[in-house]
Amino acid sequence: MCGIMGYVGPQQAAPVLLDGLRRLEYRGYDSAGVAVTNGKIDVRKAEGKIDRLANLLDDEPLHGTVGIGHTRWATHGEPSDVNAHPHTDPSGQFVVVHNGIIENFQTLREALQEDGHDFTSDTDTEILAHLVANEYEGDLENAVRRAVAKAEGAYALVVMTKHEPGKIVAVRRISPLIVGLGDGETFLASDIPAVLHRTRDFLIVEDGEMVVVTENGAVIETIAGEPVAREVMHIDWDAEQAEKGGFDHFMLKEIHEQPAVVTETLGGRLDEDGTAWLEDVHFDDDFARDFDELWITACGTAYHAGLVGKEIFRRLLRIPTTVEYAHEMRYNDPLISDRSLTVAISQSGETADTLAAARLAKERGSRLLSLTNVVGSTLSREADDILYTRAGPEISVASTKAYLAMLIAQYLLALRIGRARGVVDEGLAARVAHGLSLLPGQVEQLLHREEEVIAAAEEILDAEDVYFIGRGLDYAVAMEGSLKLKEISYLHSEAMPAGELKHGTLALITAGTPVIVVLTQQALYDKTISAVQEVKARGGKVLAIAYEDDDQIHKFAHSVLRIPRADDLLGPVAAVVPLQLLAYHVARLRGHDIDQPRNLAKSVTVE
Ligand code: F6R
Repeated sequence: MCGIMGYVGPQQAAPVLLDGLRRLEYRGYDSAGVAVTNGKIDVRKAEGKIDRLANLLDDEPLHGTVGIGHTRWATHGEPSDVNAHPHTDPSGQFVVVHNGIIENFQTLREALQEDGHDFTSDTDTEILAHLVANEYEGDLENAVRRAVAKAEGAYALVVMTKHEPGKIVAVRRISPLIVGLGDGETFLASDIPAVLHRTRDFLIVEDGEMVVVTENGAVIETIAGEPVAREVMHIDWDAEQAEKGGFDHFMLKEIHEQPAVVTETLGGRLDEDGTAWLEDVHFDDDFARDFDELWITACGTAYHAGLVGKEIFRRLLRIPTTVEYAHEMRYNDPLISDRSLTVAISQSGETADTLAAARLAKERGSRLLSLTNVVGSTLSREADDILYTRAGPEISVASTKAYLAMLIAQYLLALRIGRARGVVDEGLAARVAHGLSLLPGQVEQLLHREEEVIAAAEEILDAEDVYFIGRGLDYAVAMEGSLKLKEISYLHSEAMPAGELKHGTLALITAGTPVIVVLTQQALYDKTISAVQEVKARGGKVLAIAYEDDDQIHKFAHSVLRIPRADDLLGPVAAVVPLQLLAYHVARLRGHDIDQPRNLAKSVTVE
C-alpha cells in the first residue's frame, strides 16, 4: 500500500525523503516520487523501483529543505511516471501526495472538467491538488479543510504550497499517518519504521484530524478545527530490527527471529501454573466467565492464525467460536451480540477490511479485543482490549514471525479466559504453560535443519500444482503453508482437510503431484494416513511434516521433515516453521523477489 514521507528541517529534503521511502518499501509499491519547495515546487517521479527515482535525482537534483515523498500502489490508473505521486495543480503552486481512495473521484473529476480543468494523470489524487488550489485564499489549512470536505473515502493527504514555505499540512481519514519529532526537524510518514532511525518520539494522527508540520514540531487539530492534545509516544523498537541483519532477505531474517519472538510474546505474561497476565486486556473475570461466544475476524495469514485460535478456544474453552474473513463479515450481517467477544487479528492493525469488521462488531455491542503487532495502530486504538504480539517490525510482505506470535498470543488468551471460566484446570494450564516455555528452543532446533528443507524444496520446484492436507489444527497450518508457498513462489497450491481430498480434488493427483501432509494431531493420525494412502495409490509424491519420533511415516511418505515432539495443542507452532522455510527456498530457487512478491502489498489499507 502507498507510503508517505514528509520532511521539514535544516537538511536537504530529497535524500531524507528517499531514505524514508526505501524503509517503506515493504508496503509494496509500483512507482515513487518526491517534491520540494524552494520558492517554487519541483517534482521528480518515476515508475518502478526507488532506484529509478534515485537515478533521476542524481541527474536532476532537487534543492530545498521542505519536501514530501510517496511510493504508490496503483488503485486509479496504471503504474506509470505520469500517475506516480506527487501531483500538482495546473499552476504548479500546490502539490499533494495521497494514500487511500477517493470514492467520489469520478463525480469530482467531471465537475472540475466542466469548470475547464485539464488533468494530466488518471489518478484520484490529482483532483485533490486541483481542489486545494481552487479553495486557497491565503491559508493552506483552510484550503485543505474545504477541499477534503468534498472528498469521500479513506485517505491520508499531504499538501504543500510555494506560498507558505516551511510548512506541510496533512489530514487523515482512515489511512495511517504519523509524525516523527526531531531536534529542529520534523518528519511525517505513513509508518513508524520510515523514520525510526531518526527519532523515537512520535505523534499519531488519528482519524478525522489535521496536522500542520513545521521544523519546530507539529500541531494537531480536528479537520473541523478543534484543538487536539496528543501525547508524544516513545517507541523502543531497535532500529537494527528494521534492517536485514546479515540474511539475504527480510523473510529469512524474520523466520530466524521466531525463537526470540516467541520468548518476547510470552515474556512476563505467563506463570508456570498457567496463569496469564495480559497487560492491556482489561476485561475482568466476570466478563470472561459470562460472554457466550467468540468471533475472530482477520484476513490472509492473520485469518489463518485465527483458524488455529478457533481450535484452541474450542478445545480449551468449549465456547462456540466463529472465524470469519473480515471482508466477508463486514457485509454478511453477522449474528454478533453484546454477549460476544470479538478478536480482530491484524499484524499491521491497519487492514481496511479488518478495521471495518471490528467496527461492525463494536456497533453490535460486542467487546473488541485487538490482536496486533503494531503499537498505536488504528485497530489497537479502537479496541476495548489489546493483545500485542511483540514480533517487532515485519518487513517482508509474506508474514512469518507475526503469524507465529499471533498463535502464541491466542494460547495466552485461552489460558486467561479458561482459568476465569474454570474450564481449564490447574493441571491442564500448567501443561500448556510448560509446552509454551519449550517452544523457543524447539523453533530454534528447526532452524538448524534448513538443509533438509532445501532438499524438499528442490523436489517441488518445478511442480505445476502443490496440495496441502491435514486435519483439525493441521488443516489450519496447511492453509498457512499453502498461502506462503503461493504468494512468494507463484506455484499454484491449495490446502484442504485431508478427508475432503476424496470428494473431488483427488482427480488432480497424478504421478509426481506433490502433496504436503501435516501430521501433528495424534488422535487423527490414522485418519490422515488414509488420505495419504489415497495419494500414494495415484502416484502422488508425499512430503510429510511429522514428529521426530513418528516411526510409521517413512512407510507412506516420499520425504519427511521432522519436528520436535510437542503437545498436540501446540503442534502448529513447530509445524509451520518448515513450511515457511519451504516456501522461502522454493521462491529463492525460482529466483523471485521474495520480500516484495508481485502484485502484493504489506499493508492493505483499502477495501
Ligand atoms: C500473507 C500476508 C497477508 C496478511 C493480510 C492481513 O503473508 O501477510 O495475507 O496477513 O493482508 O494483514 P494484517 O495482518 O496486517 O491485517
